[in-house]
Amino acid sequence: MSPIRRLVPLADEAKRKGKKVYHLNIGQPDIPTPKEFLDGVRNAQLEVLAYSPSQGLPAAVEAFRTYYEEWGIALSPEEILITTGGSEAVLFALNVACDPGDQVLVPEPFYPNYNGFSRLAEVELVPITTSREEGFHLPPRGEIERLISDRTRAILFSNPGNPTGTVYRGEELELLAELALKHDLFLIADEVYREFVYEGTHRSVLSFPELSEHAIMVDSISKRLSACGARIGAIVSRNPRVMDAARRCAMARLSPPTLEQLGLAAFMGHPRHREVLEEMVEEYHRRRAVLAQELARIPGVSFRVPEGAFYMMLGLPVADAEAFVRWMLTDFPGEETVMLAPGEGFYKTPGLGRDEARIAYVLNERDLRRACEVLKQGLEIYQEVAPAAPV
Ligand SMILES: Cc1ncc(COP(=O)(O)O)c(C=O)c1O
Repeated sequence: MSPIRRLVPLADEAKRKGKKVYHLNIGQPDIPTPKEFLDGVRNAQLEVLAYSPSQGLPAAVEAFRTYYEEWGIALSPEEILITTGGSEAVLFALNVACDPGDQVLVPEPFYPNYNGFSRLAEVELVPITTSREEGFHLPPRGEIERLISDRTRAILFSNPGNPTGTVYRGEELELLAELALKHDLFLIADEVYREFVYEGTHRSVLSFPELSEHAIMVDSISKRLSACGARIGAIVSRNPRVMDAARRCAMARLSPPTLEQLGLAAFMGHPRHREVLEEMVEEYHRRRAVLAQELARIPGVSFRVPEGAFYMMLGLPVADAEAFVRWMLTDFPGEETVMLAPGEGFYKTPGLGRDEARIAYVLNERDLRRACEVLKQGLEIYQEVAPAAPV
C-alpha cells in the first residue's frame, strides 16, 4: 500500500473524534483550480459525452504541444499522447520500455507508486541510493554504472523530485544521458513538477537532441493546474516506436477523460494561462520559505531546503518515524494534529528512511505555521513518552 495513503484510516478516525488534522502527507494542493479550466468544462456544448480518440482530443494534444513550445521544446502532435493522469503515463512508459523480468534503475527515495506500476509491468526496480546529506543529488557515475546489468532497460526518475524536491543540475542530466546512450537505456523522466523550480533551472529530458530515441517524458496537469481530479497527463517521446507502442496501450484502455481535456484546451487557449501558472508557483515559493523558517524552530529536525516541487524530506529525532506519525494521529493530546508521510516507504533498500518523513507544503501559510507548531509540540511530548527514541 502507498505509504502516503496507508495511514489515512487513522486520520479519518481522529477526525471522527472531532480533531482537526493538518494533512502534510499528500500532494493534494489547496489552491483553487483556475477558473479558465473549469469554465472550459462548464461551457462544453455536448449532446453526448463521448469517448475521445485514444491518443487524446486534437485540441488537448495541441494544448500540450503549445505548452512545450513555450518551454522551447518543439514537438509534433504524433509525439504526444494524452493519458489518464501522469500515473497512466508512467505505467505505459514501463510497459513500452520493458519486457517482464527487465530491470529499471530509479534514484531512491522515489515516488512510491512506481512500485505498483513496476509490479503491473512485471519489472524490477533497482534503487540508486541518494542521501539527505547530499541533497538527494545523484551519486558519482561509478556508483550508478555498477548497477547496470544486461537486464537493465531504463532509468526512471522524477525531476523535480517527489519526495525530495531535488532539481537535477545540468551535469547530472548529462551523466544520465551519457549512460543511456552508452548502455542503450531509455531515460524515463517524470517531469510533472516541471513548473515548480525555485532555484536553478529545470532541463527537460526532451531538450537533449542526442536522446531522441531514448527519452520518454511523463507529464501531468494535476499539480501545475491544481487539478488532480482531472486525470489528464501525457506520455511524450520522439521515438516513433515508443509512441506506436504507447498508442496500442492507449487503445486498450479506449480513452482518457473527455471533459477535462476540453478544460485543458480552454485553459491553454486563454491569454492569461502563463500568468496563472506563474502565480501558482509563486505561492509555493512563499510557502517553502515559511516552512523552512518554521521547521528551523523545531529542535532535532534536520532538512535542507530543496530546489523544487512542493515536498521536503525531514530527518526526525525519533527512531521510527512511522510509529511517531501513528502516535500523532491516535495519541497526541489536543484539538489538532498533523499527518506526515513516513519516509521508509519511499525507499526500496530495507531500513533506509526509518527516521525520515515527507512533508508536502500544500497548505496555506497560516495552516502551515500552525501545523509546524503542532509538530513541534508533538515531538516534545513524544520524546518523553517514547524514551527509546534516540534524540
Ligand atoms: C512524481 C509523480 N509522478 C506522477 C504522479 C501522478 O500524478 P497524476 O496521476 O495525478 O498525474 C505524481 C503524483 O503525486 C507524482 O508525484
